[in-house]
Amino acid sequence: MRVLSGVQPSGTLHVGNYFGAIRQFVRLQEENECFFFLADLHALTTVQDPPRFRELITDLATGYLALGLDPARSVVYRQSDLPEVTELSWYLSTVTSMGLLQRCHSFKDKVAQGVVPSHGLFAYPVLMAADILIVKSDLVPVGKDQKQHLEVTRDVAASFHATYGEEVFVLPEPMILDDVAVVPGVDGRKMSKSYGNTIEIFGPEKPIRKKIMGIVTDSTPVEAPKPTEDNALYHLLKIFAPNPEEKAWVETAFAEGGVGYGDMKKRLFDYYLQTFGASRARYDELRGDPAEVERILRAGADTARETAAPLMDEVRKAVGIH
Ligand code: AMP
Ligand code: TRP
Repeated sequence: MRVLSGVQPSGTLHVGNYFGAIRQFVRLQEENECFFFLADLHALTTVQDPPRFRELITDLATGYLALGLDPARSVVYRQSDLPEVTELSWYLSTVTSMGLLQRCHSFKDKVAQGVVPSHGLFAYPVLMAADILIVKSDLVPVGKDQKQHLEVTRDVAASFHATYGEEVFVLPEPMILDDVAVVPGVDGRKMSKSYGNTIEIFGPEKPIRKKIMGIVTDSTPVEAPKPTEDNALYHLLKIFAPNPEEKAWVETAFAEGGVGYGDMKKRLFDYYLQTFGASRARYDELRGDPAEVERILRAGADTARETAAPLMDEVRKAVGIH
């Protein structure tokens, strides 16, 4: 199968990005043809500070590699290095109805959070459709917040096919895993950079420990059984628990009581270090070699363009250009 996904360099990588998306990327690359990119053009809808933006792009590329994306198995690239994507995006926008985009939750949510309602933000799903369709991906691993964007992608591809009577695109399927579809943040809402409730994957240990110790909990006494529903600490422990024995420990601790929230948070921090310790070390190492990271991105873009170019020929031909 051909797999594609991307993450925006619009903030620091967090635990929601990992469990919701990047962990699936790493697993899928074992047996599939994979394309993983940095959605830098998408990020421009929210980040408009060039020095900061440059840093975020390098951080994300370094993070991808440190977490296990392997350039020998996957094509890893920067969206803006594939100019075919923006060209395709235009063709697609001419067969996309305003109504389809007006129904997108993500646009409405971002505007409600104070993001400028630019044309780019409105057209965001069309650019995303171009990312996906340009390499004929079959499967797109993402968190649940991207589900509607995948539906838009399918609608836009179908609309192109209906308009031009030629099936140039593959209609992709989303891959959303139930148990990590929405990873909660430290305040119990969906973990998201825009809520300020994230647990970062990289960066100094101390503030991360502090965030974990600050996860919002109720006032159930130590000896009492603890509620699991809408309990961010419970969900995070379940997601992080590294093996079935640890998962069983979490279940028992909540069901039977006797373990306080403070001790549970300490255990969560241990899981965190077990999960990310090796990647954090690799990150620090790679951070010292930005030239190597850049070389990988450029080589990835060359490979991605080999796949994108023939598709673009088909698209141009279908619409009557050339
Ligand atoms: P973004 O940082 O918005 O580019 O998101 C990158 C990927 O991480 C997307 O597939 C998102 O769906 C996923 N993601 C982000 N936050 C969460 C979360 N709290 N739970 C699950 N997946 C998430
Ligand atoms: N919109 C995605 C997000 O915010 C990022 C993204 C851009 C993407 N293009 C994509 C994800 C194509 C999957 C496929 O997380």
